[in-house]
Amino acid sequence: MTEAVLQVTGLCRAFGSVRAVHEVSFSLPAGGSLGIVGESGSGKTTTARIVVGLEQADAGEVLVRGRARTGRARGRAERLARAREVQMVFQDPYLSLDPRTSVEAVLRETLRLHFPGTDHTTRIRELLDQVGLGTRAADALPRQLSGGQRQRVAIARALAVEPAVLVLDEAVAALDVSVQAQVLNLLADIRERTGVGYLFITHDLGVVRCVTDEVVVMRHGRIVEAGPTTEVLDAPRHAYTRLLLESVPRPGWDPDRIAAARRAL
Ligand SMILES: Nc1ncnc2c1ncn2[C@@H]1O[C@H](COP(=O)(O)OP(=O)(O)OP(=O)(O)O)[C@@H](O)[C@H]1O
Ligand SMILES: [Mg+2]
Repeated sequence: MTEAVLQVTGLCRAFGSVRAVHEVSFSLPAGGSLGIVGESGSGKTTTARIVVGLEQADAGEVLVRGRARTGRARGRAERLARAREVQMVFQDPYLSLDPRTSVEAVLRETLRLHFPGTDHTTRIRELLDQVGLGTRAADALPRQLSGGQRQRVAIARALAVEPAVLVLDEAVAALDVSVQAQVLNLLADIRERTGVGYLFITHDLGVVRCVTDEVVVMRHGRIVEAGPTTEVLDAPRHAYTRLLLESVPRPGWDPDRIAAARRAL
């Protein structure tokens, strides 16, 4: 059995009377890709934020490479160490990128923070290359980039610290379908090359089919179904999963849309 890089056990988090996350458990094998799907408000982002450490759990445990990271990080060194284990990419990189900071400066800042005292020029070039941004993009400011390029910058910044796990929360949801396909392709390549594991949160089952090996289906804070992605999507056992598969989140939606766009590249 492959060792789990991320192990989540019995996670609970309530906001007042709302059980945002209730008894959620799953495990991500090293270098694997696990999807979390479910309708709006089902607890996906709250789960992700607890895993990353942006939110505290009321109960339960998060282990990364077998080490507990539940509870608040004590001090700067522990905060940085935790950040090196798990990184997050959000839906809208506009909100997480400083509008006055160039692409190169963003990456240099992160590298300096985590690996002080070394020259990062080569690594910056390597990261830009890894996410398919030419060195010409290095001097650009966020507003000079397209949505897809900005998301590549956010991915490069996350990869800069060489995390064991990348948490992607609706990371391609804001992108056009063709750009989505490019970024999903890129993410598949990166996983293959670096062995980073993905926790992939999306409401788009086409995306889940494309980039995950396993999937958990959440409803009202609980997991209703879990298993290998193809099994769950092709033969869903739970009525809620069947409903998700049948529902149409937006006009023209088609579960094979992304897969087809990917093949067409
Ligand atoms: N900080 C908060 N304070 C109060 N309630 C919250 C907070 N964060 C989340 N919730 C509630 O917890 C529940 C789960 O929210 P969460 O954002 O995790 O869902 P989600 O599955 O990510 O939804 P979406 O698909 O819309 O992003 C919702 O009922 C939400 O209103
Ligand atoms: Mg969410």
